This record gives sequence, C-alpha cells and structure tokens, in this order.
Amino acid sequence: MILVLDFGSQYNQLITRRIREHGVYSELHSHKLTADEIRKMNPKGIILSGGPHSVYDENSFRCDEKIFDLDIPVMGICYGMQLMALHYDGKVAKAKNREYGKAMIELADNPVLFRDTPKEQSVWMSHGDKVLEAPETFRVDATSPSTPIAAMSNPEEKLYGVQFHPEVRHSEYGNHLLKQFVFDVCDCTATWTIENYIDMEVDKLRETVGDRKVLCALSGGVDSSVVAALIHKAIGDQLTCIFVDHGLLRKNEADDVMKVFADDFHMNIIKVDASERFLSKLENVDDPELKRKIIGNEFIYVFDDEAAKLRDIDFLAQGTLYTDVIESGTETAQTIKSHHNVGGLPEDMQFELIEPLNTLFKDEVRELGTQLGIPDRIVWRQPFPGPGLAIRVLGAITEEKLSIVRESDAILREEIANAGLDRDIWQYFTVLPDIRSVGVMGDARTYDYTIGIRAVTSIDGMTSDWARIPWDVLEKISTRIVNDVEHINRVVYDITSKPPATIEWE
Ligand code: XMP
Repeated sequence: MILVLDFGSQYNQLITRRIREHGVYSELHSHKLTADEIRKMNPKGIILSGGPHSVYDENSFRCDEKIFDLDIPVMGICYGMQLMALHYDGKVAKAKNREYGKAMIELADNPVLFRDTPKEQSVWMSHGDKVLEAPETFRVDATSPSTPIAAMSNPEEKLYGVQFHPEVRHSEYGNHLLKQFVFDVCDCTATWTIENYIDMEVDKLRETVGDRKVLCALSGGVDSSVVAALIHKAIGDQLTCIFVDHGLLRKNEADDVMKVFADDFHMNIIKVDASERFLSKLENVDDPELKRKIIGNEFIYVFDDEAAKLRDIDFLAQGTLYTDVIESGTETAQTIKSHHNVGGLPEDMQFELIEPLNTLFKDEVRELGTQLGIPDRIVWRQPFPGPGLAIRVLGAITEEKLSIVRESDAILREEIANAGLDRDIWQYFTVLPDIRSVGVMGDARTYDYTIGIRAVTSIDGMTSDWARIPWDVLEKISTRIVNDVEHINRVVYDITSKPPATIEWE
C-alpha cells in the first residue's frame, strides 16, 4: 500500500487514483496521522501531497516529522517537497507570486525517478513557495528557468521531492515518475485488482458479520446496487434489502430492479409500494424545495416502518464511496453520511454501519458491479435524483403529468441508446413545464402541453454543457414523443449550460 498524506491540494485524490491504476493499492489520509499510526498501517511508501499553504504560514499543515525515521521511502510533491526540504535543513523561499501552468524542466544526470525519460520535458506547476537550497544530503534532479530546484533526491535514504505535480496529465512523464517511485523505489508489486478486492472484501464481510443480519436500502442506483450484490455474495440470505417504490421512478424501473435483484440474484428484497402515500403527501405542492423535503422525510418514515418489522438486524449497509469520505473531511464523514442517507432511524434501533465501497472511486465501483454480474444498464445508469420525476413535473404533480414525463422520458432514453450516445451524454431526461400552447394535429386545433428535453455533458454535475445531439436524432425523438405521448403537441430542447441554469429544471 502507498500512503498519501493529505495537505489539502485539489489534486490529491488523483495521486491515489493514478497509483491504483498501476495496480497498487493506495489510500489518502489526513496529514495528522502520527508516525506510530503510519507504522501500523505498514505502507511500502509515503507520498506527501501538495497543499494551498505556505510552509511559513502560522497555521500551515505539518506532519509528524518522525515519519522520516520510519525507514519507509518518502516522496514529497510541491508543498510536500518543501516540508521535506525544511526537515533536512534546506531553504524554502517565500514567494511573492504563484507559478501556475506548464513549465519546461531540464534533468540532471540519471535521476532515479526520471529514468528513461527525455532530458527536457514539460511539467505542470502550481506553487507559491519554492525550495531555494536543497538539503546538503540531497542532489538536484531537475531545474526549470523559474524554479532552480524542480526536483531533488537523496536516493540512499529513498527520499524524493518534485516541485511540480506528476499526478496531473499535463506533466508529460508524471505517470512514469509515480510508477518509478512505486515500483523501483518502494518495491511494490501490481496486485490490486477488482477481483482481488472482491475476495478480500467478501472475507472481511463474512468475518465482521458472522451469522448476524444486514439491512440495505436498495434504490436501483449504481452504488446501492453494487453494495447489495457484494454483501449478498458474502453472506447470501443474511442480507435483506428494502426497496421503496415512491411512484416517482422512471418507466419499468421498479420492475427492472426486482427482476435483476430478486429474480436473477435471488436476493431477499422487501418491495414497498408507497406511491399512494407519496403522491397524497405531494398533492398541490408546487414548491421544489418543499417537494424534496416531503419526499426525503417520507422515505425515512417508510424505511423505518419496514425496518421496524424486521427482527435481529445488526448492520446497516450503505453505498458510501471514497469520494464521499474524502470530501466530507474524513473524520466526520461517517456520521454526516449516515444521517444524510437514512436519517431518523428509530432510536431503539442500533445498527452498526458497514460501508464496503468506502475505499473505492466511482469507476472502480462500476467495474466491481460488472465483475459481480450486474447488467450494464444498472452499472452505467445515468444519475437520477432521489426525488425522481417529482422535480421533472414542474409545479404541482398529478398522475397524468407524471405519466407524460415517464412516457416521454422512456422514448428519449430509447432513442439515445439507439443512437449509441448513452455513454457520451452524462444525463438526459424530459421535463414537463406547466405551460400549454396551440398546435394543430390532423385538422384539429390542439391546446396542450410542451415537453422539454434536457441532455448535458458533465464530469461531476457541478457544471455542465448542453449535449450536441445530432439533429436527426432530435427529430426522431420529437416525432415519437408528439405521436406517442398524449397531451404533448410541442417539444423544445434546452440549450443552456450550468451555470447559469441548473441541470434539473426544479
Ligand atoms: P442541478 O439541477 O442542481 O443537479 O444542476 C445536479 C445533479 O444533482 C442531481 N439532483 C439531485 N439529486 N436529490 C438528488 O439525489 C436532489 O434533490 C437533486 N437535485 C438535483 C441532478 O439530477 C444532477 O445530476
């Protein structure tokens, strides 16, 4: 395992990911870990990450300096290299300006990390301070016009520092550098694969759970589906899933979830048909935030009611991902997440949480799902909001309006898949605004609803651009929707990015 100590750089998750891509397990942890704690984790190498601080800031992040006495190879990146330089009595200069962007570096003779790479290469810099004098026991491995010590090392002690960011793709040979450190310096072997992870996790789950029972809220989304399948593989019928159908799912979605997990996987699933309960609570509610609140609360009530009927459940499984853990600031992550997902469980119900995906990234979870035999349509499912179609019928919800969105959305999905675009477009769906307009069908005048198509490309949903769907595909979708969905006489395409719009319309 390669341990990455987190000093706050925006690129830190990338370091762990890159190392895992090389088949070596890596974890990102707080810089507050003590040398003793690190020794117990037994990493084969430590990477000190970059960070936004200056080493001279009063409250700048520091690590336990005893880590340098652990006899474990250390690589410092950016801020991490500066900490290393200070520890070994080098000099770090406080910067007036930041250096940001591409830079060319020139290598000294035969630096270990750069073996077999060209003498001149471009790297990605993002730093303020820089090392002015390398510690006496170190050699300078690379220089750039503005950063005389762009890389340094003490190969005997297995200590390496780079001022630039090898984890960022713009660093031409950055990946090579990480690989050198991991394999050449730390002597790791590439054994981290999803198959191994499954075996390891199955053993761990069996040991933790023993002959006790686990409960899981299955939504049909990627994360909860993979969690359920993994736990089921480990403990079979000791797992019970609760699947709440709130009546706001897409066409055939509830049946499909039941088919895959109850029929094909033979899981114990309690399906709760709560659509009436949700719809009656949502009657005449037109405020989007109120809709969300009602649905969120009702979900908890329904889940609690069902869970309370079960006996002897000891564990609650959740699909928390590594990104959730890291982004919530590690220490407090677990409580925040459990609260967020299942909320007010009855007080007399004391579940222990199990979160078997909490060391995995989303793409690894997808691969895991595929290995476990979950079909592509679930593993590669586009994001779908918890409140479901309720926030895609703008204004107050009626059965009729829900049905219009459901049917038009099914057509859109089918045509996007037929056009082979379903993995390129991040999210695509239809919305029903609360407007009607005049049309003509056959010889008759119509006065009916308009459907909006929303399709966006995005990486994480924080920002997005509207997808350039080919016109002939749009034409087909529009024709089918108007012909096949009652009460629609007009189709419009949303060509706004986020910001200024959001992805959903409510
Ligand atoms: P917006 O509309 O904010 O959406 O640009 C960004 C992403 O979040 C999803 N979304 C939600 N997901 N509960 C969820 O679980 C919600 O209330 C919710 N609102 C938006 C949206 O589908 C998009 O992927």
